Amino acid sequence: MTILVTGATGNVGRHVVDLLVRAGADVRATSRNPESLDLPAEVDVRRADLTDRKTFEHALHGVEKVFLYTQPSGTAAVMEAAKDAGVKHAVLLSSAAVAGPDPDHWIARWHRAAENSIEQSGLSWTFVRPGPFAVNSLQWAESVKRGEPVRLLYAHSYLSAIHERDIAEVSACALLQDGHAGARYRITGGDSVTQAEQLALIGQAIGRELAFEDVTGDDARADLRARFAPRIQELVRDGVVDPTDTSEIVETRIRYYEEALEGPAEIDGTVEKVLGKPARTFAEWAADHKADFTN
Ligand SMILES: NC(=O)c1ccc[n+]([C@@H]2O[C@H](COP(=O)([O-])OP(=O)(O)OC[C@H]3O[C@@H](n4cnc5c(N)ncnc54)[C@H](OP(=O)(O)O)[C@@H]3O)[C@@H](O)[C@H]2O)c1
Repeated sequence: MTILVTGATGNVGRHVVDLLVRAGADVRATSRNPESLDLPAEVDVRRADLTDRKTFEHALHGVEKVFLYTQPSGTAAVMEAAKDAGVKHAVLLSSAAVAGPDPDHWIARWHRAAENSIEQSGLSWTFVRPGPFAVNSLQWAESVKRGEPVRLLYAHSYLSAIHERDIAEVSACALLQDGHAGARYRITGGDSVTQAEQLALIGQAIGRELAFEDVTGDDARADLRARFAPRIQELVRDGVVDPTDTSEIVETRIRYYEEALEGPAEIDGTVEKVLGKPARTFAEWAADHKADFTN
C-alpha cells in the first residue's frame, strides 16, 4: 500500500513522512520544491502542486491513501484525479476554526472549502482540525537569539498550542489504521498557557530569562498586517477574502486574541482518545526546540 504525503517540507508533513517510514509504510512524498527535501532513500519523492492537477496525476499512480494540505483552489481537481487513480482515503490537515465559535472566520471558510471538496469526492476521509500550533512560537526565535525583548501580540492571551508531532501522529494513525473514516478530529495541546508563559518555558528550556514587550491594539494590527501581507494575494485568488476589504484578516485575529485574554484555553481529549497517550505540553515542545532558539 503506497501512502502519498503532500507538503513533505511542512512542519506537520515532515513528521507524517517520518512516522510512516518508521511504521514500515511505502511512502511517496511531494513538494513544489522536491530538491529541498532531505528524506530517507526509501521515500519516493515527486514534484507536485495542489493547484495543478496534472502534476498530481503523475504522483498518484498506485497510491491508496493521501495526506493533504489545505489548498482550496485545487482540492476539487486533485480529489477527482485521486478518485480516477483509485485512491481510497484522504486525510486533510484542516483547522479547528472550521467548527469554532465564528464559522464565518476567513480561516474557517478557507479550510471548509477544501473539506467540502473532499466530502463531495466520494472518497473516504478524515479531517484533522488542530487549534493553534506550538510551532508558531518559532517566529520569536530571531529576537531570542539576538537577546532582544520579544514582541508578543496580546502576551497574556491563553492558548492550548499543539505540538506538530501530535498533529502528525493523529494523521499517521488515520492513514495506517482502519476506523478513522468520517472522523473530524478537533485537537489541541495538552495545557493552557499564555504566550508570556510560553516564552518563559522556552527560556527555561534554554536556561535564560527572556524579556518581552506586550503588543496590543493598533500596534498589534500593524504587526499582523505585515505578517499576513504575503498571503493576501493567495486568499483573494481563492475567493476567501474580499479584495476591496482585506481588514477582516487582521480584525478576526485581534478579536481572537482579545477573547483569549479571558482564558484558560479549552483542552480537548481527542489526541489521547486516538493515540492512547495525552497531548504533549508546551514545556515538551520547548524542550524539543531548544536548538531553534540558540545560536
Ligand atoms: N499555524 C497554526 O496555528 C495552524 C492552526 C490550525 C491549522 N493550521 C493549518 O495548517 C497548515 C500549515 O501547516 P504547517 O505548519 O505544517 O505548514 P508549513 O510548515 O507552513 O508548510 C506548508 C506546506 O504546505 C504545502 N503547500 C502549500 N501550498 C501548496 C501547493 N500549492 N501544493 C502543494 N503543497 C503546498 C507546502 O509544500 P511545498 O512548499 O513543499 O510544496 C508546505 O509543505 C495550514 O493549512 C494552516 O492553515 C495552522
